Amino acid sequence: MSLRSLPAASLRGTARLPGDKSISHRAALLAAMAAGCSRVDGMLRAGVTQVMLNSLAGLQIEWSWDGEVLVVEGAGRRGFLPPSGGNGAGEPKSLNCGNSATTMRLLAGALAGQPGWLANSTRPDFILDGSKQLRKRPMNRIIGPLCEMGAEIRSMEGTGCAPLALNPAPLKGIEYRTPVASAQVKSAILFAGLQASGSTLVEEPSPSRDHTERLLRWLGVRVEAGSCRARVFPLQEPLPPLIFRVPGDFSSAAFLLAAASVIPGSDVTLQGVGLNPRRTGLLAVLRRMGADITEVDQRESAGEPVGDLRIVGAPLAGTIIEGGEVVDMIDEFPVLAVVAACAAGITEVRHAAELRHKESDRISVLAGELRKLGIGMEESSDGFSIQGPVKFPGGIADSHGDHRLAMSLAVAGMVSGNGVEIEKPECIAESFPGFEQLFNSLGARLS
Ligand code: S3P
Repeated sequence: MSLRSLPAASLRGTARLPGDKSISHRAALLAAMAAGCSRVDGMLRAGVTQVMLNSLAGLQIEWSWDGEVLVVEGAGRRGFLPPSGGNGAGEPKSLNCGNSATTMRLLAGALAGQPGWLANSTRPDFILDGSKQLRKRPMNRIIGPLCEMGAEIRSMEGTGCAPLALNPAPLKGIEYRTPVASAQVKSAILFAGLQASGSTLVEEPSPSRDHTERLLRWLGVRVEAGSCRARVFPLQEPLPPLIFRVPGDFSSAAFLLAAASVIPGSDVTLQGVGLNPRRTGLLAVLRRMGADITEVDQRESAGEPVGDLRIVGAPLAGTIIEGGEVVDMIDEFPVLAVVAACAAGITEVRHAAELRHKESDRISVLAGELRKLGIGMEESSDGFSIQGPVKFPGGIADSHGDHRLAMSLAVAGMVSGNGVEIEKPECIAESFPGFEQLFNSLGARLS
């Protein structure tokens, strides 16, 4: 199967994005730990959140859909039950996290302080596993701090990656300085900290997305957060059920921000987009490049800023992206590369080595696929640069099973000379169900 994206004359109209992936993951997990019935409206219903929900079902949490609303019967903060069934070798049935590193890391944190089911046994209580792609992503970054808190977690093949064997234990709060700015690592430790004795502090080299801190605070949990640090205190009271609407995903909006900015004559309005400043780095960068994007009607949902965005096509110029700005747009570099190809002058990305540990190596894989379309991208160890504007013909490119690469290639097709054919586009459904229909409703030609 392939997806073809033909050149688009302009994008025009109004759209609403699927729910935020990061907030949806956290909402599902916290709803499972809450006391009572949660109703999460606008929950992202896609591949990566489905594996979180399936894992929760594996832990004997009951959930269902009421239209677009996810309904979760919370089991309380220590209420996860071990998966029933096993592999015959005395190991429990593994929780399949699919392609979702967020599911694996957040779940590991939440499970670390659960009551030990097989305490003092040599067998793991929980096994967390996932796809071939997920098995290549670094898990040592959570294994270290969670073990320091008292949990027993190990990489079963000794690779520092999944599958992970986990035995919960009574946890103690720690003060942890993580070498990488990562919201997944920070959140895994904070989730564990909810069940630890004493408070738990995470410090990072630059601030990562703070959805966990915001959601916990909104639920009444004691959290102290500064720009590079977050301290959580153990839960004293049961978590109340979550009843709120998940904002639209800024990282999905990014493809429309990019496409509408670089296709002349475009005028698109996106409604109800999450505008957490730790997520909107691309907005600042696009504006610096000359983009015409306005925010309208700012509001709040569960402690998260939300608003509408209007994007009008405009000529763009290259820029430099480095330091903390990288973290604020960590998921947006594949599409930024397409924008860079359309902008006048050089766009350079530095301090972005983390891109090599995402769903694909988003430096070398991206460079290889863009080259096939006629876009030259120069790689460095921690970034890349692109000299624009490039009049590129397009051609056939491969998603490598990376949803954001697939969608960025589709945007490239819209501004190419002859269109782009994307191989293995199914991965788009991991985070952006209805991508093709939504773009086509605005004037794109995807089929
Ligand atoms: C996420 C954090 C980011 C991001 C990922 C989702 C989250 O990863 O790339 O898509 O929900 O916490 P890191 O925190 O590991 O950089």
